[in-house]
Amino acid sequence: MDFIKQFHGGWAYLLILIGVIFVVSTLIYALSKKRTDNTIKKIGLFTTIIFHVQLLVGLVYYIMKFSAMEPSNIMSDSGLRLTFVEHPMMMIAGVVFMTIANAKLKRSTIVPMSVFVFGLIGLICILSRIPYYIWPA
Ligand code: HEM
Repeated sequence: MDFIKQFHGGWAYLLILIGVIFVVSTLIYALSKKRTDNTIKKIGLFTTIIFHVQLLVGLVYYIMKFSAMEPSNIMSDSGLRLTFVEHPMMMIAGVVFMTIANAKLKRSTIVPMSVFVFGLIGLICILSRIPYYIWPA
């Protein structure tokens, strides 16, 4: 469990970094009406991979934590609600938005503003529900 926890917490730095790079670069491309080239496609690909890896590791971590937990009322405890409901739901939403952004990017010839908007919403979902009370340690 410790390795998964460390990995999930560490990978989050990489995810935020690549998420910011994706949002900033798609904004620059969209504003300057640049063509979708290999550089931006690679940024999109790496962003999607890094997000999906975190999603899978998060799911494993969730199952491990949930099965090791004493039975209790999750919804009435704000800490447990964040860990087991709000955090996973918002992270999944964030990954979905980012995946849509990348799908739109792949299909475009000139980077549209919607790619930036979807990416930004995805990043905001993620940043809004990270458990900051335990991270960074
Ligand atoms: C994809 C974006 C995600 C990001 C950026 C993210 C980020 C984080 C961070 C930074 C922590 C704190 C780690 C630490 O203790 O040092 C954490 C904890 C946790 N995450 Fe995620 N996570 C993501 C997705 C998910 C998903 C999809 C799930 C489950 C389905 C999940 C389940 C958990 C659980 C159970 C904890 C433990 C919280 C606690 O101990 O209170 N995460 N996550």
